[in-house]
Amino acid sequence: MIASPFLNSPIKICCIGAGYVGGPTMAMIAKQCPDIQVHVVDLNQARIDQWNSDVLPVYEPGLDDVVREARGRNLTFSSRVETAIRESNIIFIAVNTPTKSFGIGAGRAANLEFIEKCARQIAECSTGHKIVVEKSTLPVRTAEAVKRILNSSAKDATFDVLSNPEFLAEGTAVQDLLQPDRVLIGGESSEAVERLAQVYGRWIPREKILTTNLWSSELSKLTANAFLAQRVSSINAISALCEATGADVDEVARAIGTDSRIGPKFLKSSVGFGGSCFQKDILNLVYLCEHFGLREVAQYWEQVVIMNDYQKRRFSERIVRTMFHTVSDKKIAIWGFAFKKDTNDTRESPAIHICRDLLEERARLVVYDPQVPEKQIRSELEACFQDSNGRLSETHKKLIETNVSVVKDVYVSAQEAHAIAVLTEWDEFKTIDCGRVYEEMRRPAFVFDGRNVLDRKAWLDRGFEVHSIGRPGVS
Ligand code: NAD
Ligand code: UGA
Repeated sequence: MIASPFLNSPIKICCIGAGYVGGPTMAMIAKQCPDIQVHVVDLNQARIDQWNSDVLPVYEPGLDDVVREARGRNLTFSSRVETAIRESNIIFIAVNTPTKSFGIGAGRAANLEFIEKCARQIAECSTGHKIVVEKSTLPVRTAEAVKRILNSSAKDATFDVLSNPEFLAEGTAVQDLLQPDRVLIGGESSEAVERLAQVYGRWIPREKILTTNLWSSELSKLTANAFLAQRVSSINAISALCEATGADVDEVARAIGTDSRIGPKFLKSSVGFGGSCFQKDILNLVYLCEHFGLREVAQYWEQVVIMNDYQKRRFSERIVRTMFHTVSDKKIAIWGFAFKKDTNDTRESPAIHICRDLLEERARLVVYDPQVPEKQIRSELEACFQDSNGRLSETHKKLIETNVSVVKDVYVSAQEAHAIAVLTEWDEFKTIDCGRVYEEMRRPAFVFDGRNVLDRKAWLDRGFEVHSIGRPGVS
């Protein structure tokens, strides 16, 4: 360890961005390091108010307890961005980096507007020495731009820039933060790297804190997400073949997953991957490869997203085809709208795409999700029908109004329904009383299990026609 006065001065942390990453990660640091002041700031006052209330903006198992322990002690949420920057010596940037929707690289490149604004604001408000930590997922070499902005705009401050990407998954964020597989810190200044490593070192074994150069750290984050998404697309590609041949994708996944070189995780075939990051980060990787003239590499990774789009489309087409080639005016219960279980996040949820396809066919949808509010479901559906100028046609507006209802009881959703489509793998779906559901549905009672969570045999025995992912349909 390097002996330095800089390393020994008290740490004060601020985090810009109180979203799915900023909120939970900072809450965990504050919980584990009671002597470090952690100030999380955001421009979105409504979000800050929620962080300060009993109903947090992020639904994550175990998060309430973590926040409750630290909030008011050494964890603060506010919109006082400048004050927070001024008072801290380690500043995390955890703002959103969505796919660009305009201009050069639209639909592929990451929109770095928010990152740049943060860097400029940090430069303006800082004095003394600050460590600026990229927590957001960023294209390789973004740190170079951040450094230039900081160093050229600052009046009376010096900076070290580190890359410290976040690997938590929603739904398991607390566990992932408590016992991560690794923490990655990339940087040029070994002193700054060590300072940040000391924070994580309070509860994470040092051998799990990996240090690299800046560019490896930035690229490792994109690569990890690309590899994970690739596994999902690979097993989903095989699911199509299983449906055509009579093989069972879950059996195939088990058989290959026991090979220690392959491993069992991320082999669950589904209606497609969703979430705010997989697609965004792969498209970002594709854009980078194209930028560096690596056309074949770009095409290779893009195929992961193409396969995912195919999987979502394949599922809604299967519903329409199976239900006698029309779902017009038929009632379909949609079970689950979040992009995975144990989160209220619906960004890029496959449910949005499937609902859109079914609405285009004029189906009547009754949506049930235990965590996603009705307003959010409607706003996601409206957004997906908007044209490239953000306009929603009167026809689509009306379609959503008249053909979508949202209910708070899973059994109510299936009353008088022609079909059920399971789109999120919420645990409660595993223990549903299929007899009770069957009694209230139209016949034939179709079930399309987009997550393979239902007890297929029990539902078949009860009289349902069951269509699972990666298995031929059976009645
Ligand atoms: P989010 O949209 O939930 O939160 C981002 C927050 O930043 C928003 O509340 C927004 O108001 C705020 N913000 C934007 N500009 C700001 C500014 N100039 N000043 C103050 N606040 C500002 O996003 P997220 O899901 O938390 O993701 C953040 C980053 O972390 C992204 O780069 C993402 O790729 C990455 N990431 C996300 C996850 C995840 O599970 N969601 C996991 C790992 C990494
Ligand atoms: C993912 C990564 O797992 C995290 O490591 C990363 O930090 C994060 O992205 C990020 O950068 O945002 P997350 O998207 O929250 O986390 O959730 P995952 O568990 O990875 O699931 C992503 C999607 O893939 C979900 O829609 C999920 O249902 C789907 N999935 C996952 C499958 O269809 N099958 C699987 O076997 C696994």
